[in-house]
Amino acid sequence: MTLTLRVWRQPGPQTPGRLVDYTARDVSPHMSLLELLDVVNEDLTASGEEPIAFDSDCREGICGSCGLVVDGVAHGPKAATTTCQLFMRHYRDGDVITLEPWRARAFPVVKDLVVDRSAFDRVIAAGGYVSVDTGSAPEANAIPVPKDDAERAMDAAACIGCGACVAACKNASAVLFVGAKVGHLATLPQGRPERERRVLAMVAQMEEEGFGACSNEGECEAVCPKEISVTNIQRLSREYVRALLRRG
Ligand code: FES
Repeated sequence: MTLTLRVWRQPGPQTPGRLVDYTARDVSPHMSLLELLDVVNEDLTASGEEPIAFDSDCREGICGSCGLVVDGVAHGPKAATTTCQLFMRHYRDGDVITLEPWRARAFPVVKDLVVDRSAFDRVIAAGGYVSVDTGSAPEANAIPVPKDDAERAMDAAACIGCGACVAACKNASAVLFVGAKVGHLATLPQGRPERERRVLAMVAQMEEEGFGACSNEGECEAVCPKEISVTNIQRLSREYVRALLRRG
């Protein structure tokens, strides 16, 4: 089939961008969207033009690198699907697919479809880890974790940090991401000794990075490729208030 890719081209952070059309012929329905971009880039390179810059790594829906706004939706029209797992069989001959970068103040455009997501790294560095010495991997039953807690923690840990929640939110809020990380660690015994310090530091860093506040729109959960629940936002609020009260 033949598709038109309408792609945001922006040479650099300070340069104005614009949408540019590229025609892709003989598109296989088995191609992913990123593979289609690869093919378009091969043609651009062959004709001496600048290839389209975009992020990817695992291409298996695991790493969270491949954030694109596809036809106005973060990660595109398929629910619970990352951009790298979006296949051309969902499109028809003659379709136009519009590709844009994440749009958020805390994720400035670097080039074309690539944005700087290091704000998430700094939020994690502020406290999204366990620094107590947990030793090597313990025997599975050495630290009993109730089944419900284990499942809640696993669900939250599924967050791949892609930033779709921020891109979809009209406030560019990161509370779903931070809530998933805080909730994951606060639920497990290994993460509890630092839970107050962690939530206060991560929320402070989130605000410093320029992410917006939550106004309960639910767009974050709707676009999340890992279906992270907004109950993690409620958990973040509870953890934050608890930490404030304990700090006194
Ligand atoms: S490239 Fe890793 S999640 Fe898409």
